[in-house]
Amino acid sequence: MKRLALYVFFVVCCGLALSQTKTDRTCLREKVITFPEVTTSSWVKLHPNESMDLSAATVCLRFYTDQVSTSSCLFSLATPSHPQDFSLTADSKQYQMYIHSTPIVFKGLSLKINQWNSVCATWDATSGLAQMFANEAASIRKMVGPKVSFKGAPVITLGQYQTKYDGGFQQSYIFTGFISDVHVHKEVLTARQIKTYIEAKIKYKLGDYINWHNLKYTIAGSAQVEEKQQVTYAKEEPI
Ligand SMILES: *[C@@H]1O[C@H](CO)[C@@H](O)[C@H](O)[C@H]1NC(C)=O
Repeated sequence: MKRLALYVFFVVCCGLALSQTKTDRTCLREKVITFPEVTTSSWVKLHPNESMDLSAATVCLRFYTDQVSTSSCLFSLATPSHPQDFSLTADSKQYQMYIHSTPIVFKGLSLKINQWNSVCATWDATSGLAQMFANEAASIRKMVGPKVSFKGAPVITLGQYQTKYDGGFQQSYIFTGFISDVHVHKEVLTARQIKTYIEAKIKYKLGDYINWHNLKYTIAGSAQVEEKQQVTYAKEEPI
């Protein structure tokens, strides 16, 4: 009986250790986050220093995947008022942006399989205009969402689509692959600043809301941080 109790104790402990989450603040320069499994129990949350009161925002990131038949969520920002306050999904045909939970589609932008894709998405509450940039091309500008600011303490996830504020994730939007260089800016970057980021020039502007080079994040499940050079060839391919 005692032996059985001990056995149960170890099984429970191992289970807890495996399901553990880890919070860290570090520089992730030249690092990627690997999402190796289609499961809602692997996730990454990014923690900004301050709650939101932004009338404009730019989200930039790079991703690498072989997922084309299904949509996957690259970036999901939920606030108490909107589960998709600023989110970004992709499949082989189109990118989709959500502003205050209203979706808007961008067609004809490239998504390269098994290569780094660099994307930026911008939105401004004054004009209500959204624009996306993917690799070599810029989209047109499209009106989306009510013209109000982003407000409240956000929950930001990578690779998972949030179904509600600090709630669960949607099975059909799980991302598999690598995500890197996530930066969130409190303004609409200029086309030139975005081009510098997309071309991965050394001196691109780092995010002043979320900065990959000084990032507080929580990671769970099989998602893990790895060296970019060890998982993909050298640097971002110039476009
Ligand atoms: C957040 O706060 C930390 C610690 O004070 C600081 O080093 C970092 O630069 C801040 N991040 C942003 C994006 O402002």
